[in-house]
Amino acid sequence: MKVYQGVALALEILVLYIKMTLTWFHCLYQFFVPQEPKSVSGEIILITGAGHGMGRETAMRFARLGGIIVCVDINPAGNQETVDMIKENKGKAHRYECDVTDRDAVNALAEKIRREVGEVTMLVNNAGIMPCKPLLQQSVKEIRSTFDVNILAHLWLLQAFLPSMMERNHGHIVAMSSMAGVVGLRNLVPYCATKFAVKGLMEALHEELREDPRDFSGIKFTVIYPYIVDTGLCKNPKIKFPSLMKILTPQEASDSIVDAVRRNYFEITIPSSLYYINTICRLFPRAVPIYLKDFLDSGLEAHT
Ligand SMILES: NC(=O)c1ccc[n+]([C@@H]2O[C@H](COP(=O)([O-])OP(=O)(O)OC[C@H]3O[C@@H](n4cnc5c(N)ncnc54)[C@H](O)[C@@H]3O)[C@@H](O)[C@H]2O)c1
Repeated sequence: MKVYQGVALALEILVLYIKMTLTWFHCLYQFFVPQEPKSVSGEIILITGAGHGMGRETAMRFARLGGIIVCVDINPAGNQETVDMIKENKGKAHRYECDVTDRDAVNALAEKIRREVGEVTMLVNNAGIMPCKPLLQQSVKEIRSTFDVNILAHLWLLQAFLPSMMERNHGHIVAMSSMAGVVGLRNLVPYCATKFAVKGLMEALHEELREDPRDFSGIKFTVIYPYIVDTGLCKNPKIKFPSLMKILTPQEASDSIVDAVRRNYFEITIPSSLYYINTICRLFPRAVPIYLKDFLDSGLEAHT
C-alpha cells in the first residue's frame, strides 16, 4: 500500500512539473509573440474618475475602438468635457455624476445605468486621490478619504457590477494601483497602503472566481501599476535621472492601459521595465535594493 501511495504521489508530482514547465514555455512564447488585442466594440465600459487624467484618456481610447463608455465622476464639469470630447470624435458616451465612496449612490447608479444603457461588461476602477505628506501630518479625514476612494469604492463597484458579469461569464475588471502599490514611498503611507490593497483585492477576487466550480474564465482581470504620470495628481515629483525614469503623459500611460486590457494581461507596470526591475530586486535581501532606490533618489515631495 505504501509503495502504491509513493508511486501515485511521484506521478502526481511529475504531472505537476510537466504542467508548470509547459505553462512557463507558453508564457515565454507569449512574451515574444503577444496575443492579439481583443475587440472592445459594443462593450459597455464604465470608468470611474473619467472626468480627468488617465480616466479621461482611457475613456477616449476605448470609445475610438467602438466601446460604449459610461463616464462616472464626482466632478460633473470634467466628466461632461470627457463626454463632449468622445462625442466630437463620433464615439458613444454617457455621463453619470456619482461619489463612488457612497455605497448607496453606487447601487442606485448601477440600477440607473442598467435601465438607461445596459449591463456593464467592463469596469475600470480608476478614481483615486493622493494626499502627499508625512503620515503624522495627515488628518483623519485625509486618511479615511484615501481608503474610501482608493480601495473601498472598488469593492462597492464590484458588488454592484460583478454579478451580471458572472451571470454571463463575460466581463473585464480593471483596477488602478500604482508603483506605490508595489514599493513603499515616503509621504505616501496611507496611499501606498490603499494601492497595495488593490493588488490584494484583485489577486484574491481572481482566485475566488477561478476556484469556483462554475466557469468564470470569461471574466478577465487587469491591474495597472503606473509610476509618475503628468495629470496633476503628483504635484511635486522628484526625478533624479529623467532619462531613466521620465514622467509620462496621461496619453502615453493610457495607450499602455488600453493595450494591456485588450491583451488580457493580468498586470502591467507603466513603464514596463519597472516590472522586471522590481521582480529582480525582490530576490535580494531587503537591504540590497535600498541602495538602488537611494541611488535613483526619485519620489514625491510633500504638498499641502
Ligand atoms: N498620476 C499618477 O502619477 C498616478 C500614478 C500611479 C497611479 N495613479 C492612479 O491612477 C488613477 C488615476 O489617476 P489620475 O492621475 O488620472 O487622477 P486625476 O486626479 O487626474 O483624476 C482623478 C479623477 O477621479 C475623480 N474622483 C476623485 N474622487 C472621486 C470620487 N469619490 N468619486 C468619483 N470620482 C472621483 C476626480 O474628480 C478626477 O476626475 C488613480 O487611482 C491614481 O491613484 C496615478
